[in-house]
Amino acid sequence: MSIVRVKVGISMIILAVYCAWDPFEHSVVSEYRKEFETYKVELPAWSEVRTVRDGENRLVRGSERRFVGEVQGPESIAFDGVGRGPYTGVADGRVVFWNGHAWTDFAYTSSDRNFLQVIFSGDNSGRLLKYNSSTKETTVLMKNLQFPNGLSMSKDKSFFLFCEGTIGRLRRYWLKGEKAGTSEVFAILPGFPDNVRTNDKGEFWVAIHTRRSMYTYICGVFPRFRKFLLKLPISLRVHQIINRSYKQPAMVVKYSSEGELLEILEDSEGQVVRTVSEVEENDGKLWFGSVLMPFIAVHKLE
Ligand SMILES: *[C@@H]1O[C@H](CO)[C@@H](O)[C@H](O)[C@H]1NC(C)=O
Ligand SMILES: *[C@@H]1O[C@H](CO)[C@@H](O)[C@H](O)[C@H]1NC(C)=O
Repeated sequence: MSIVRVKVGISMIILAVYCAWDPFEHSVVSEYRKEFETYKVELPAWSEVRTVRDGENRLVRGSERRFVGEVQGPESIAFDGVGRGPYTGVADGRVVFWNGHAWTDFAYTSSDRNFLQVIFSGDNSGRLLKYNSSTKETTVLMKNLQFPNGLSMSKDKSFFLFCEGTIGRLRRYWLKGEKAGTSEVFAILPGFPDNVRTNDKGEFWVAIHTRRSMYTYICGVFPRFRKFLLKLPISLRVHQIINRSYKQPAMVVKYSSEGELLEILEDSEGQVVRTVSEVEENDGKLWFGSVLMPFIAVHKLE
């Protein structure tokens, strides 16, 4: 054997050990290494997925960033009954309220945003709970859900929708009628959602944090492969470059109350609007919350 081959061989072994062992804890899951496990995500078949796009990037036009640097990770946006606001929950667990001149503290919650571990692992311990405020009783409506997130009531209150984050679906839970107490798939989304919000017309806006791709499909259905990738000593940034989320593109979609896709709006390069966690329609505008951004983006509807 030549000396060169031996050197290459030894280098390969060192590299393999380095990758498997990750001695400097560079991998994105190193902080929860001990408990970190990955589970299969039952993604819809690739053929069932509509890879719709907004070719014109309509979110770029008519959008602006507001409150830049004044809010960190404004996750959700809300307005109160008399149109005051926005109210938003920020990264340190405060809920703040814009009084027209300045941000004021409105309420405090605990700050627990270790959601990445849940997303990476495909953990299915999510539950749907009902709380009865008169009896103070909590009932479990559904369990074994993968990252259920966001919930929105239909206009006639006969059902509500919630997001199945890691599967990329909207699920409908019936409250009235003969199907009351049962649930069904409402829509297969073109990506992975964070939150769903209804507007005055009873349509549903969904914030999509990452578009579906062959890469996300393979990572979902092959949990061992996903674990292998996540345990490599490479940073979040590199993962984002691989899965093309580094530009922090924004995407929101609108569905009718019957589950028909009505609208798709994107800023695929993150020029103005970036990674959206929630979209709230108010006063002819869309207000975008984002756990990752230091601003609130606003888009004027045409
Ligand atoms: C809450 O509990 C009371 C007493 O059992 C019941 O009458 C009421 O319908 C419950 N509310 C809801 C929303 O389930
Ligand atoms: C892409 O990678 C980033 C960083 O690892 C992660 O936050 C995001 O969830 C990934 N998206 C998908 C769909 O894998």
